[in-house]
Amino acid sequence: MTDSTARHGFETRAIHAGQEPDPHTGSVIVPIYQTSTFAQDGVGGLRAGGYEYSRTANPTRTALEECLASLEGGRHGLAFASGMAASDITLRTLVRPGDHVIIPDDAYGGTFRLVDKVLSQWGVEHTPVHLSDVDAVRAAVRPETKAIWVETPTNPLLGIADIAALAGIAHEAEARLVVDNTFATPYLQSPLGLGADIVLHSTTKYLGGHSDVVGGAVVTDDDELHEKFAFLRNAAGSVPGPFDSWLTLRGLKTLAVRMDRHSDNAERVAEALVNHPKVTRVYYPGLVEHPGHEVAAKQMRRFGGMVSFTVAGGEQAALDVCARTRLFTLAESLGGIESLIEHPGKMTHASTAGSALQVPDDLVRLSVGIESADDLVEDLLTALA
Ligand SMILES: Cc1ncc(COP(=O)(O)O)c(C=O)c1O
Repeated sequence: MTDSTARHGFETRAIHAGQEPDPHTGSVIVPIYQTSTFAQDGVGGLRAGGYEYSRTANPTRTALEECLASLEGGRHGLAFASGMAASDITLRTLVRPGDHVIIPDDAYGGTFRLVDKVLSQWGVEHTPVHLSDVDAVRAAVRPETKAIWVETPTNPLLGIADIAALAGIAHEAEARLVVDNTFATPYLQSPLGLGADIVLHSTTKYLGGHSDVVGGAVVTDDDELHEKFAFLRNAAGSVPGPFDSWLTLRGLKTLAVRMDRHSDNAERVAEALVNHPKVTRVYYPGLVEHPGHEVAAKQMRRFGGMVSFTVAGGEQAALDVCARTRLFTLAESLGGIESLIEHPGKMTHASTAGSALQVPDDLVRLSVGIESADDLVEDLLTALA
């Protein structure tokens, strides 16, 4: 892919990369090419762009993929039907029966389920490791380790992993470093620049940004890996439709301004929670007392919009807070303009129950939206009262 906007700043690339005005009509916004197939001029005579069939490639999706690659600072981007489809294709490309992967000890529940319940059936082993502990990661590496899977910040405990240090360990072991950059987004953190081989997203979250689309993405600089990912995606068919691609592309245009506001509001919310007598612990990497604060400050532009906290009184107290907020909507997912609240133990991370990845039962997770910070703080204080 060539990116004529490569020399421009992030905000400019978010709006222009892969998005020249339509050559046929001048349409400033990339059209939704809502078609499954493309006319050919004679057998094998593909027209401009070489499009043939939309599972393989579609122009709206191509624009999204070029923009995603540009924002992550990589050469190749691929869009998927969901974040889990992106994870599935990535893992099935990297591992074979007998191989081993290292995952975060508080990995996103769906990623854990894929590794623990699906890949295990094909003889792939995994070790959950506390990724902030670089020595523990080094100790968990085996000769069969093919991938170290990183989330930073993690979901839901907002743990921070040192991407550059883990890239060094992965490469010494001839394994790949995969970074799920869903929580940080490319505006706040650039894993490829820190040595990662593959960056992965649930674009359902901040990249789409409006809670109206499910999608995923993978970006890499490695030509061979990209070819393998594209091959398996085409073989398996886990592609997003043109309208979903278009919605995600539209979301990307405002990513930078949204992430700044998410970060502003999350900082306000975290400060209010830290000082609250019913809150026993606040997990936010922007707080200086967070154990990963220094690493986060080194590798992130700001600290993002996710805040988790534990409540005095155990599980019932946490469930009560989730039931009482009015502006924070009780729902799974994250990264939209609206604020959400959830109980990871019973909702997003229920699949980790009884495993090493089980989350505290008094934990509440917030996706802090871009509403007025004063209103958000008031809503939480009322729910905690
Ligand atoms: C960090 C992270 N990675 C991956 C996923 C999976 O993405 P999707 O729901 O789009 O399949 C999620 C979903 O919540 C997530 O939070």
